[in-house]
Amino acid sequence: MLIDKFGRKINYLRLAITDRCNLRCSYCMPKDQHFLNREELLTYEEILFLVDSLSKNGVNKVRITGGEPFVRKDVPALLKELSKLETIDQFSITTNGVLTNTYLDELQQSRFSSVNLSLDTLNRKKFFAITRRDEFETVKQSFESLFAHNFKLKINMVVIDDFNINEIYDFVELTRNHPIDVRFIEEMPFNGLENSYSGIKWNYATIRDHIEKRYCLTKLPDTPNAIARNYQVEDFKGTIGIIPAYSRTLCGSCNRLRITATGGLKLCLYGEDVLNVRDLIREGIGEKELINTIQAAILTKPLNGIEAEQQNNHIHQSMSMIGG
Ligand code: GTP
Ligand code: 5AD
Ligand code: SF4
Repeated sequence: MLIDKFGRKINYLRLAITDRCNLRCSYCMPKDQHFLNREELLTYEEILFLVDSLSKNGVNKVRITGGEPFVRKDVPALLKELSKLETIDQFSITTNGVLTNTYLDELQQSRFSSVNLSLDTLNRKKFFAITRRDEFETVKQSFESLFAHNFKLKINMVVIDDFNINEIYDFVELTRNHPIDVRFIEEMPFNGLENSYSGIKWNYATIRDHIEKRYCLTKLPDTPNAIARNYQVEDFKGTIGIIPAYSRTLCGSCNRLRITATGGLKLCLYGEDVLNVRDLIREGIGEKELINTIQAAILTKPLNGIEAEQQNNHIHQSMSMIGG
């Protein structure tokens, strides 16, 4: 079991398998983002060695992220191999929905029954404005197929001032007849541009108050280690989550470990890489030593994201490099 110095059990791995993406969301990356070379990424063999080692040491939840995971070649083969790791009881993936529809069978066959879909608007022109790509209809199709195939579905909507506030109620309405979880996320500073961020207007409380102007929300019990506070509108089939990603009020129970596409180990979204597992694996490190090295690093996991940010000058990185 991997444990930090505050006694938090670290059992949730977020693994970025690529920094590349087929969209260019402006809150995530500049439009001329530079991407990494293939050799810089962890290979599938390296990923499997890493996840296998972690799974024998208490990690039982794995989320695949990117960039956009499905732009990496042969993703289904990786998912299939990962699904053979029996002690992992929860596999999930965060995707933008552009290619997802093509891989529904493979996802299901590989125990990836839970999908988090990024979607910030329900309007085609606005989708193009935020993502710089005309893929709204494709993503909508993925949403409908995922729903029809009974995936456990969460929609991630980044709340952006002067852009999608007038759609918050439309997203709440999605939960009326769909048993899905719609999550409103505070915008974070990870757009890959230096000093372009000056705080947020729409935080957890303002988002909740805005929703409560029209709907009567019932607070749902907090799930352990949750990054969202969850609510439900009476008689609606789905639920609503609000993620204080920028105000970081739910950090205290964080159980996450992040591996970036290049093998960087991150103990906090707002922190820097504390070591590089790709380099260690390429130097021939064995499983036991790898785990001991990771456990030693975990002892430096900051209590919360504010503390991590204070130690880190690089928070204007692109989210696609961090893995979300
Ligand atoms: P679940 O397992 O379904 O709870 O997924 P998740 O919410 O951990 O994953 P997802 O990839 O859907 O992330 C949703 C949003 O929460 C993204 O904007 C993430 O960057 C943000 N988020 C996830 N983990 C953390 C975290 O440790 N700290 C902060 N501040 N935000 C996070
Ligand atoms: N602020 C908040 N959320 C972000 N995401 C990407 N960049 C940001 C940002 N700057 C979200 C995506 C995706 C999730 C992994 O992170 O929308 O759903
Ligand atoms: Fe791609 Fe997700 Fe970043 Fe948008 S937020 S550019 S979909 S990685």
